[in-house]
Amino acid sequence: MVVRGARHPQRFLVRDVAIDPAVALAPMEGVTDLAFRRLIRGIGGPGLTYTEFIPSREAALCKTLPVRFDPDERPIALQIFGRDPALMATAAERLEDQGASIIDINMGCPSKKVCANSGGSALMKEPDHAIAIVRAVVAAVKNVPVTVKMRSGFDASCRNAPELAWRCQEEGAQTVTIHWRTRADLYKGVRNIDKIAEAVDRLSIPVIGNGDIFTVEDAARMFDETGCAGVMVGRGAIRNPWLPRQIAQFLRGEPVREPTMQERHQAVLAYFDHLAEAYPEHRGLNGRKKMFVRHTCQALDDGDVLKRTALPAKTNEELLAALDEYFSERSVSQPHS
Ligand SMILES: Cc1cc2nc3c(=O)[nH]c(=O)nc-3n(C[C@H](O)[C@H](O)[C@H](O)COP(=O)(O)O)c2cc1C
Repeated sequence: MVVRGARHPQRFLVRDVAIDPAVALAPMEGVTDLAFRRLIRGIGGPGLTYTEFIPSREAALCKTLPVRFDPDERPIALQIFGRDPALMATAAERLEDQGASIIDINMGCPSKKVCANSGGSALMKEPDHAIAIVRAVVAAVKNVPVTVKMRSGFDASCRNAPELAWRCQEEGAQTVTIHWRTRADLYKGVRNIDKIAEAVDRLSIPVIGNGDIFTVEDAARMFDETGCAGVMVGRGAIRNPWLPRQIAQFLRGEPVREPTMQERHQAVLAYFDHLAEAYPEHRGLNGRKKMFVRHTCQALDDGDVLKRTALPAKTNEELLAALDEYFSERSVSQPHS
């Protein structure tokens, strides 16, 4: 069991915005939409949530802003991506007016869609241009802090996160998140948090450590090995939506609790409700539901059983019945831990 230590801060400030507990839910396109964030917030845990990335062109030019969040979802970072400093600045200005607590600039996304237009992690290859974007966004935003999310570099020959992060700080960025992988690593690569640790040493603003935090132990290790101010959890929260709460419990020195079968069942149903409520017009909700069930199965000892019964379901009723059967059989004798 990992024990809370001096290097595990409970909270930190992004300028004047308190992040408490010091754990953030990562921005994830196609995942961290309103429904998923409602689920995670309902379970509790993250001191900060991020929207999926928002294309700056849309945010700057469209009549209706492509982002939704609940009024009590505070603090929330609205993340923008793009390449044109003027469009990024206008997008940031509009999103600030929309109620963002923080404007986050994406310099880490490896997706083809983003990099093809030389945004996201492609910006790490062009630090001067990346800095021009930070400068424009900081100048445009009036009252909320601006932050940046990046990878350790573009590839093995360009691991420039500490230098770029320092330049972002000098332009007025208030926090930098660093995912230890390079763009070339995509989601592979051997864990190497050296650039996060270097950035922590070099910067006076908080650095959030990100990459492969799937357990409370992983979070503690990120704090221990880098001295980061906070941790960001992405895929770990898809597999285990209780992870941000568990990390928060750990940071508060409380016992870390595993969800019961009843809680797992209720979380799946709550997510389905959030989906239906947030996207009543959406046609592909069954696919989204099954995707979520698939992730849930990964965390279960005999998740294959649920996979076999739930995933072939043709209707929502069949899916609910399969879930009900699986969870009620396993909930009966399980004590509330
Ligand atoms: C499905 C998916 C979508 C993502 N979308 C975004 C995004 O919109 N913006 C961003 O900055 N990073 C995005 N990322 C990267 C994550 O925020 C995070 O940096 C990365 O997954 C590493 O953290 P993890 O190991 O905890 O998942 C995405 C990752 C995944 C898996």
